[in-house]
Amino acid sequence: MKRIQLLDKQFALSIPASDIKKALWEMAEKMNKELKDQNPLMICILNGSFMFSADLMKLIDFPCEISFVKLASYEGMGSTGKVKQLIGLNEEIEGRTVVLLEDIVDTGVTIENLMNQLDSQKPKDVKVATLLFKPEACKKNVKLDYVGLEIPNDFIVGYGLDYDGYGRNLPDIYTVID
Ligand code: IMP
Ligand code: MG
Repeated sequence: MKRIQLLDKQFALSIPASDIKKALWEMAEKMNKELKDQNPLMICILNGSFMFSADLMKLIDFPCEISFVKLASYEGMGSTGKVKQLIGLNEEIEGRTVVLLEDIVDTGVTIENLMNQLDSQKPKDVKVATLLFKPEACKKNVKLDYVGLEIPNDFIVGYGLDYDGYGRNLPDIYTVID
């Protein structure tokens, strides 16, 4: 199995780019059916979702806009349990369908926090699309409308996800070796 080193940690290949691509195709197919008349505002949650959002957007064939928010909750290999908003949303979302694009739902703290903030702006509907979901780590009861892959509760990097800033550029996903 292919191994890489980032800073002080070793990682082994766990999800090859071909599996990611397949998950994106399936997700886009479902979205193309369900959202075609919604004219949604897609919201990419930076930093981790930049690669997922860019690849997914190329597979979407309905009218939509995209915007970006920047949130941070992770330090090193764990959630701090607090969500810092580093860049907010400029768009008006009242009465509009919003689709949050997240790289991974881990504890669920980030996505729940953002959904609560958006709710006060009275959107018509807020949907969540996440490439990855760690069911064993999730402490919040959030409805995930589109899930690419369910994964074990291990720390991963690649395809937008980082270990202290590194590894976001990797086309495949790797799991930490302990
Ligand atoms: P949550 O708030 O715990 O659900 O985590 C949300 C954010 O933490 C994600 O959007 C990621 O940016 C980051 N994160 C969660 N799990 C991992 C991981 O295994 N590797 C890298 N980043 C992660
Ligand atoms: Mg993220």
